[in-house]
Order: sequence, then structure tokens, then C-alpha cells
Amino acid sequence: MIAALRSVLRFRKFDPDPVRRRLARAASIEDLRVIARRRLPGGVFDYIDGAAEDERTAARNVSGFAEIEFRPRVLRDVSDIAVQASLFGRPLAFPLVLSPTGFTRIAAPEGELAVARAAERAGLPYTLSTLSTRSIEEVAAVAPAARKWFQVYVWRDRALVTEMLERAQAAGYEAIVITVDTAVLGRRERDVRRGFTLPPKVGLETLLDGIAHPRWSYDLVRSQPITFSNVKGKGVGDGTSAVSLADYINSQFDPGLSWRDIEWFRDRWKGPILLKGVATVEDALLAADAGVDAIALSNHGGRQLDGAPPPIELVAPVTDALGGRVPVLLDGGVRRGSDIAKALALGATACMAGRAYLYGLGAAGEAGVDFALDLLRDGFRRTMALLGVTSPAQLSADLVTRPDHPSEVRNTF
Ligand code: FNR
Repeated sequence: MIAALRSVLRFRKFDPDPVRRRLARAASIEDLRVIARRRLPGGVFDYIDGAAEDERTAARNVSGFAEIEFRPRVLRDVSDIAVQASLFGRPLAFPLVLSPTGFTRIAAPEGELAVARAAERAGLPYTLSTLSTRSIEEVAAVAPAARKWFQVYVWRDRALVTEMLERAQAAGYEAIVITVDTAVLGRRERDVRRGFTLPPKVGLETLLDGIAHPRWSYDLVRSQPITFSNVKGKGVGDGTSAVSLADYINSQFDPGLSWRDIEWFRDRWKGPILLKGVATVEDALLAADAGVDAIALSNHGGRQLDGAPPPIELVAPVTDALGGRVPVLLDGGVRRGSDIAKALALGATACMAGRAYLYGLGAAGEAGVDFALDLLRDGFRRTMALLGVTSPAQLSADLVTRPDHPSEVRNTF
């Protein structure tokens, strides 16, 4: 009897490492999200997971990918698959770039340092946010071999922008990413309801939340105060006072930014310039005319204008209109390697992802970011095998279709 039972029962070997144990139960980015929700205080999770107003755009970013179906080809010898791609003449381990996310240290104390190290190990570019909680130089020091990009928010104080560009150049950053969808901050209603401030303010609710999440609270108390590391000593937001993100951004960012300013950046930055936040064919064409080196179709993960279109739906019309003049990247809703395959099939050069790695960071710290990037790479490779292609360049429009709107997706059949 016991021998018969033993033949069918398989217990998992007990792993003494709690982080590995936690990750062993996760099979997808969504699983990491569920673990992060359990481990982080509600206000912190909502800051990461939430989006603007009714969060329709955020939901459509994800469902936009789900609505696309594959047209897999068979019997094509996929015994030798290479997932590598390239951008600006340099390699990408697979076609993914880590999107900039401000205030990363609220998810885990190492914050941007953990994410940059994971990106370096994965062979992917990491974009550091202007609103990061680790400085340009700190990130460069811990991930010297990583391709590092610097995301620029354009402050009213242009001297501050110039200084940050000089620091990024001196620290070996390769490219800048100018975010153009944040003339004012989108209304993130989860944050409004919770009275969420940066840095997190200790009110009664936060206190109770902190007690319910002792590990997070212990880490927060033990580590240095969280501040915007790149803009220290520049008034509000320097860590001396808690402000709502909306008040901070609306007082500091320049809403007068226009196409003329791209030239201002060209005069001050020697490497590639990406424009992040393009959401129409018209603006993609203007961006190419303005001489940017790449376009990132993005709606800021649905955190800015609710009602903005899902980037995956813009890929085909934008790449058709541009005719290869500049590489097109996109972010918003990338949760699986198969999403990256869909975007490339429609004409994109690479995807970017924000929440996917933040969920990993919130679920299991640096190991969680490694885990999230591995999931995306393995999923991309597996999708290629199941589609019958052996290199990203073979991902073409005839491999995808959108059953409910066949005319919206290019289809050569
Ligand atoms: C962001 N995003 C963002 N973008 C940017 O240009 N500068 C920034 O500082 C931030 N900060 C930020 C914080 C958090 C918590 C999130 C979730 C997002 C937007 C980000 O770069 C990217 O556009 C989206 O995250 C893409 O959508 P997914 O991948 O999160 O679905």
C-alpha cells in the first residue's frame, strides 16, 4: 500500500530559501502580480498597479494583445532558435527594454539598483527614470556593463535638465528617452482615494497597512529615506516633505514643451534620442521629421490620458506610415513573451515593459526581477518555436490576425 502510494505521490523537495520557495509557485507575470499584491502595503501596490481615471486604457493595453491571434506555421525546423535582436547597432539579448519607472524603491529597498543589475544579467537595456530613487551615478556604478538609457522629464528649470544630461553622458548612458505624455499628471484615482504621497506619509491607514506588511515596513525603516535621487536639494520632492505626485509634477514639469524643443536636446545629447509617449500616426511622422532616433508608442501604462489607444493597435499603422525611417518600440500591457512576438510580427523593433518587472521586484526583490525577465525571454523563445520561426526577423505580419477586426492588422493572406 505504502509502496503504491509512493509511486504516485511526488512531494516537492523543501527549499530552505524563502524567496526561491515563493518564486517556485509562480508561473507567470500575473502570478508575480498576485504575490506582490499580498506582500506590499495596499497603497504601494496600487501606486504600481493603478492607472488613470477608469483605468480603461490600462485594461485595453493588456486586452489589445489578447485580441490578436497567431497563424502558426508547422514543419519548419525550429531546432535552432536565436532570440537576439539589435537596436542602435548594439545587441539586445531579446527584443525587450526595461521601461522607466519612478520611485522604484517603494517596491523593494534596493530599487533601481536591483533592476539595473537584473537588466545587466539579462543583456537588456535599462531606462532610469528622472524620478528615480537611486541616482544616475549609483546605477551606473552597480551595472557598468548594462546598456543604460536615461528618461528625461522636462522641468521648467532647464538648467536642471542640462545638468542631468551632462551627468548621464559622463556616467556612460547610451541614449535618452524623452517622455512627452506628461504635460500634467494623469488622475490616478486609486492614489487620490488613498491620499497617497511620495514619499509615503505615515497616516493611520499607512500605519495599519505597515503592521499588516511587517517585512516591507522593516525594510523601509532600515534603509535610507526614499528621495528623488537625481533632483536632491531642488525644493519639493527632495525628501524633506511629503507631497502628492500630482502637485509636485504639475509645479515642476514644463507644460510648454513643444516640437521645437527636440532641437534643444539634439544640441545637448550626443547619443540616440527616443521619444516616448507617441500615440498617433501624425505624431510618429512629426517625430521622424524632427530627427529622433526611435519612437516609443506608449500611453504611460494607462497612467496618463484614460481613453488613449493601446500601443499594440498603433504598431501596424505607424510602421506602415514610417516605412522603416526609424525603429518603433512600444510599451503598455506586455505581460508575456508572446506579446513581444505579436508586436514584432506587426512591425515593432522591440517592446518595453514596466509593471512586469515591478511585480517581480515587489514579489521577490532582485530575484523576482530576474524571474520576470526569464519568463519573458523563455516565453518569447517558446512562441517563436510554436510559430515556426527561428529569428526575430522572421516574425512577419502573416503570422498574426485579429479575428474581430481583420482589417486592422496587416495580413498578407
Ligand atoms: C511608470 N512610467 C513612467 N514613465 C516615464 O517615462 N517616467 C517615469 O518615471 C515613469 N514612472 C512609472 C512608475 C510606475 C509605477 C509605472 C507602472 C509606470 C510608465 C512606464 O515607463 C511605461 O510606459 C509603462 O509602465 C508601460 O506599461 P506596463 O508595461 O506597465 O503595462
